[in-house]
Amino acid sequence: MNYKAIVVDALYAVLEGQMERNAINSAIEKPKSLALGDFAFPAFPLARVFKKAPQIIASEITAKIDQKKFEKVQAVGPYINFFLDKKTYSADVLHQILIEGLNYGNQNLGDNGNVPIDMSSPNIAKPISMGHLRSTVIGNSIAKILAKTNYHPIKINHLGDWGTQFGKLIEAYKLWGSEEEVKADPINKLLEYYVRFHKEDVEHPELDDEARAWFKKLEDGDPEAISLWKWFRSESLKSFMKIYNKLGVEFDSFNGEAFYNDKMDEVVSLLEQKNLLQESRGAQIVDLSEYNLNPALIKKTDGATLYITRDLAAAIYRKRTYNFVQSLYVVGNEQTNHFKQLKAVLKELGEDWSDDIHHIPFGLITQGGKKLSTRAGRVILLDEVLDDAVSLAEKQIEEKNPDLKNKEKVAKQVGVGAVIFHDLKNERMNNFDFNLDEVVRFEGETGPYVQYTHARAMSILRKAKDKDLSGNKMEKYQLNDAESWEVLRLLGSFSMIIKRAVEEYEPSVVAKYALHLAKSFNKYYAHTKILKDDEQLTARLALAKSVSVVLKESLRLLGVQAPEEM
Ligand code: ARG
Repeated sequence: MNYKAIVVDALYAVLEGQMERNAINSAIEKPKSLALGDFAFPAFPLARVFKKAPQIIASEITAKIDQKKFEKVQAVGPYINFFLDKKTYSADVLHQILIEGLNYGNQNLGDNGNVPIDMSSPNIAKPISMGHLRSTVIGNSIAKILAKTNYHPIKINHLGDWGTQFGKLIEAYKLWGSEEEVKADPINKLLEYYVRFHKEDVEHPELDDEARAWFKKLEDGDPEAISLWKWFRSESLKSFMKIYNKLGVEFDSFNGEAFYNDKMDEVVSLLEQKNLLQESRGAQIVDLSEYNLNPALIKKTDGATLYITRDLAAAIYRKRTYNFVQSLYVVGNEQTNHFKQLKAVLKELGEDWSDDIHHIPFGLITQGGKKLSTRAGRVILLDEVLDDAVSLAEKQIEEKNPDLKNKEKVAKQVGVGAVIFHDLKNERMNNFDFNLDEVVRFEGETGPYVQYTHARAMSILRKAKDKDLSGNKMEKYQLNDAESWEVLRLLGSFSMIIKRAVEEYEPSVVAKYALHLAKSFNKYYAHTKILKDDEQLTARLALAKSVSVVLKESLRLLGVQAPEEM
């Protein structure tokens, strides 16, 4: 169903070889509003060829065009405006959606190629931040959009579970910690010990030596160090899992930084073989001045490896394990340089697949326009945000629809969905402000609004006693009123939207589309008696059904559920 191609063909047939198909195709524009037609062709470029004014060319060409394929073709000034035949279009689109259901919009762009997605990746013994939330929901949505376009996503949680800070944590725990405390409230307690360590080591610098010694033990596999570390890791992971479960996000791998502990020697020797390592004040670095980047610090003076050393090992491991076609890292904007360095070092190693590594950065969540900051007390704890969102959703449901069945379940779907949707409707590079009341509103540009519209379409279909729409002939799906047209055009553009979203790694394309479709369906609903028993009833129900399918699928691609009633 390529309607643009019909327009290209119609023009090509009358342009007497003066313009190639491709050139025609790229000259065609989308009019500012549907009232001006569905496609517009500007005649300016032909003025030189035909040696006539563009206005005249436009009307001469229009007169020659085979109008049968269109509702109408009109010359307006220098433009030729094409109006698609609504009935044909409507029948085509609705028929296809009813047949394909939630598979509508599926396409093969990826040939099932593997795409590891490094996402979420919080740090052990610290709370998950709003930044990690962004990474989690953006990564999760990109994974779903990739799968819809026949890539094979692999979701990797590259936990921050290794590094000198674990030496400090062990030392702090040995000094001030207790098992019961940690068990009762792992993340907060571990954080507390860690913060205390940093306070006390100002006056007791010997603490640092102890911490370093503990990390050395950890790296060397000392049983006590290992067992404490394992315990901190599993307690932390347990509390992360609670959040992931609330969000409905699953991972294919939790191989974090520690996983690469025994894989870094190889990286270092590869770098040595290629003569890339240089000594700089006792440390080992790779010079990247050719790339206009700061040197990559591979090993510290004391031989300890760094974040980037582990990322090098991880990148190589992923290439070997998954033979990926692309490798994505959904990580905040502030790490842009790190990923540039990572790619540059791999390039220096002669690994040309480093071109397939893409950092997918994103902006900050602010509050009252200000950056979140632990010190200034502007922290938002994700776990609490999700619970508060669910309570707010519950309150609204109580007001609007007190008799709803499964109120609790729906409140969860709505509250959590609202938080996710709010994140994803913003282009990922934009910073945005977090205000829970805004996020959970049932009207406006929110997730609940889209969910509500989906539920409304479902309720219409229930009232129609689920008239079986599947067996109908295509002629039954012909709509040609002005009100349904925008809805139909949006439904017809779903594949293109998915393609754009995957090419730009941009879930907001899908979120904005869902809002647009919801809005235009609600407008249609306000104008039209869908259930009126006349000859177009089947077509209108097919439209409602199609809207419900496409909204549900759009929400699924964002990681948001679509309750049938709310
Ligand atoms: N743990 C890191 C942080 O919280 C993010 C890790 C991102 N992934 C990576 N492969 N470097 O900042």
